[in-house]
Amino acid sequence: MKKRLTISGLALGVTLLGVGFSTTFAADETLRSLAEKNGIYIGAILNSQWFGGGLPGNYEQIHKTQFNIVVAENEMKFDATEPSENRFSYGNGDKMVKYAKQNGMRIRGHALAWHSQVPNWVNNYKNDKKKLLSVLKNHINNVVGHWKGQVDEWDVVNEAISNNEPQWRGYSVWYQGIGPEFIDSAFVWAHAADPDAELCYNDYNLEQGVNPKAKAGFLLEQVKRWVANGIPIHCVGSQTHVEDTTTDKHFIGSPDSLRSLARELAKLNIKLKITELDIGFKSGINVSQSDLERQGKTFREYLDIILEEPNADTYLIWGVSDKWSWLGGLNRQKGLIYDDNLKPKPAFDSIMVRLQNFEPPQDTAATDTTANDTTVTDTTKKDTTVQDTSIAIPQTAGPGSVTMHVAGHTLFITGMKSAKVDVFDMQGRPVFSGKCEKGAVDLNVAEGLYMVRVREGSRNLVQKIAIK
Ligand code: G3I
Repeated sequence: MKKRLTISGLALGVTLLGVGFSTTFAADETLRSLAEKNGIYIGAILNSQWFGGGLPGNYEQIHKTQFNIVVAENEMKFDATEPSENRFSYGNGDKMVKYAKQNGMRIRGHALAWHSQVPNWVNNYKNDKKKLLSVLKNHINNVVGHWKGQVDEWDVVNEAISNNEPQWRGYSVWYQGIGPEFIDSAFVWAHAADPDAELCYNDYNLEQGVNPKAKAGFLLEQVKRWVANGIPIHCVGSQTHVEDTTTDKHFIGSPDSLRSLARELAKLNIKLKITELDIGFKSGINVSQSDLERQGKTFREYLDIILEEPNADTYLIWGVSDKWSWLGGLNRQKGLIYDDNLKPKPAFDSIMVRLQNFEPPQDTAATDTTANDTTVTDTTKKDTTVQDTSIAIPQTAGPGSVTMHVAGHTLFITGMKSAKVDVFDMQGRPVFSGKCEKGAVDLNVAEGLYMVRVREGSRNLVQKIAIK
């Protein structure tokens, strides 16, 4: 449950939303400080220009001040990390990891198995299933293993579903050469390489509802199967590259539709993350102040999902400034929260004000004596044991569930005989580590919001808790 935010002493003068902004914020208030108060992650890519050193100094200053999660725009993809067979290149990724650790930021890894930005040498094996499986496993083992314990979450598979009638994307060397079971294998191998990393399936156009004909509906059926078969998937990343409503009806997604996906995923104990947000306008049109304010309203509506849905925790924007955005390639413009001169746009104000004013929905637990009771049932079955390289992972069922809840400072765990317990603050810093043999362990931590990870063998459960 996200922590209640108390607002006191804020120098805050804001006109009504949509009327116009004359907003001033307290000097110490940033998107990051407010995200951390609300127990969520707000971030932006480190774009490829950052790696090349071609940005003005205030870009990085803004980035590390305003954001608490980061992902590399291109530098951790297959073509960047394994440009030639079994020869790995980690320099740029290491540079980002060092920056993120220096600035106390959570790290997303993007992306292990994707149809795009695959180096040409991989395509040489497109007709050799056994070899292609070992190529993918070797890549995952090396890349996830290199950043084990440093990269907090991975887009294990990206964009494997087609855009037309929902089905697997045909033009993908992984799908063509292996079949859809490459996905099951990729998750099991990534989990074996780093059991502590959160593992996501990431895709776009998931903001159009969960009916079976929609992409998200097809995905939901796959997630149910993966969970039932013990595949170690923890999250779905919704890229959320959407277009402002006034320009193009075809691509428009809606916040409410994405929220419906979050709620379906919550039933499976799977998180929803917004991983590549931009809300663009068609290239070439004149974008007015009222257009920018409407854009701000839409940014806020997507943020509401992350603030209000208990299984949503990440709001990552695919860029800082309109000046350096991929959107031009999609015939779009002005999709971010800072303008070409790195000045905040109405969208920045809109999400800042929302974060300042957010009041977590009251729930019954908050009023009774077990206010800290954040019982969680892990429906992720026992993880599939890692099978051998040569074949895709057979789908096995694995019963068993883990629950945990907090009362006062005591963490109660069921479903694990001897659990390793690690507690992290909302910046990802470890604050407690211990064992739980008798089903309960006292957490010697101060009042506040934390992420707790309980592990036994290859099973693990991560959950946000509030110590009051
Ligand atoms: O590195 C080469 C450089 O050596 C060369 O001089 C230059 C000109 O040809 O190209 C550079 O590679 C470019 C690469 O970005 C790195 O800058 C590629 O041409 C260009 O196609 C590539 O675009 C990236 C795109 O993914 C590729 O599909 C965008 O920057 C990046 O924002 C975009 O990000 C994707 C996510 O990974 C997945 N979701 C969709 C999102 C937008 O497409």
